[in-house]
Amino acid sequence: MGKIKILTKDIGTPNLQNIDVYISKGGYASVEKAIKTLGPDAVVEEVKKSGLRGRGGAGFPTGMKWSFIDKTPGKSRYLVCNADESEPGTFKDRYLMAENPHVLIEGMITSSFALGANRSYIYVRGELIYVVRILQKAIDEAKAKGYLGKNILGSGFDLDLNVTCGAGAYICGEETALIESLEGKRGNPRIKPPFPAIAGLWGMPTVVNNVESIAAVPWIVVNGGEEYAKLGIGKSTGTKLISAGGHINKPGVYEIELGVPVEEFIYSDEYCGGIWKNRKLKAVVAGGSSVPILPANLITKTANGEARLMSYESLSDGGFATGTMLGSGGFIAYDETACIVKNTWNFARFYHHESCGQCSPCREGTGWMEKVLHNIEHGHGKPSDIDLLVDVAKKIEGNTICPLGDAAAWPVASAVRHFRDEFEWHIKNPSAATQPGAVFRNEAVLA
Ligand SMILES: Cc1cc2nc3c(=O)[nH]c(=O)nc-3n(C[C@H](O)[C@H](O)[C@H](O)COP(=O)(O)O)c2cc1C
Repeated sequence: MGKIKILTKDIGTPNLQNIDVYISKGGYASVEKAIKTLGPDAVVEEVKKSGLRGRGGAGFPTGMKWSFIDKTPGKSRYLVCNADESEPGTFKDRYLMAENPHVLIEGMITSSFALGANRSYIYVRGELIYVVRILQKAIDEAKAKGYLGKNILGSGFDLDLNVTCGAGAYICGEETALIESLEGKRGNPRIKPPFPAIAGLWGMPTVVNNVESIAAVPWIVVNGGEEYAKLGIGKSTGTKLISAGGHINKPGVYEIELGVPVEEFIYSDEYCGGIWKNRKLKAVVAGGSSVPILPANLITKTANGEARLMSYESLSDGGFATGTMLGSGGFIAYDETACIVKNTWNFARFYHHESCGQCSPCREGTGWMEKVLHNIEHGHGKPSDIDLLVDVAKKIEGNTICPLGDAAAWPVASAVRHFRDEFEWHIKNPSAATQPGAVFRNEAVLA
């Protein structure tokens, strides 16, 4: 397991960003097959059969999401690609778009055809202006070849594909905030229902999908959904891009077949190449800053002692008590010298800054958590602060319009759950804990 590549197999080919090179590798075959042979409904069926789950974080089945779209005749439908990618630890989409832009453009055309969308958008994070330029060039090339624009391949199907960019707000990655932003408004999440499949962009039926989800569609259409479903493990079918960072020897983006053991992912030379400087592993954030942090002893094995796998199910085994989530695939490893309190404060600072402020629990709670963590980290913590953190996190979780609140609460609650002794040490020993390089050690959680 772990050797097949779908999205990244041609990366490294000189000038892959050029459409002729991409076509020489079999590119745009899914557009031909979808339009000339399958038709829209059969494409949706193949995606359903593939078991592909949304790669933006929530893991919702893509084919099912597509089948919810309101198909009332006369209503415009839209496909929006979420390329906002602002989650700390996650840097897979920008890599794919920069290295292999045509796989996304091809996916957008084939998916728009399946959904009956004649105008589609790729919403790119504002800071990634270089990616916007690469995508625009790819779109222009696809248009010149007749894959985009009016009457694609003589089929009567028209598609106007637009790249647009945000201004660097994390909240604009939440799909309804993204839609608001696309409409030219402040990126505030909408109350749901109605979901975008019923009333999305300009009030019309809309599908929002992550870059990686859409980029998987060409392979699924060409090879068949059943072939895709054979890859991976259980309900975690196919391959997944993992952006690996932190204290590892080989940070980078890896395409894994879902189901690779976490231990293999961390220590094998094929992936992260082990923990740097021959240090021990202390903790892992497996799916971007929003998911619960796990100590090393729970990340390579589940609480039952089974090998933990890189899959939706295995990573969440044990629920939040002893598990985490695959999320967006932003894998951050922390070695034995990392300070969990400082890291938690850092994440809390991010969420406080990025909260849109619409919901009081998130607007106020993220600020409280940030202040309390700042105090603990800087030697001014009180023993009651630890329970206060847990209490605030609980009051945010589930009480906001969008999941940014949960994303802010989970890292704090999980850090306290698994590393409470480290928080206590900071509070009891402020002068020692604030020394440069000082770190709390608990051998039991190291691996
Ligand atoms: C605060 C916040 C930020 C998000 N950022 C992104 C993002 O950058 N990219 C993304 O694909 N999904 C992001 N999501 C998830 C989207 O709301 C949505 O679920 C996703 O784009 C759906 O695509 P998928 O089904 O293909 O995963 C974010 C969610 C939240 C709450």
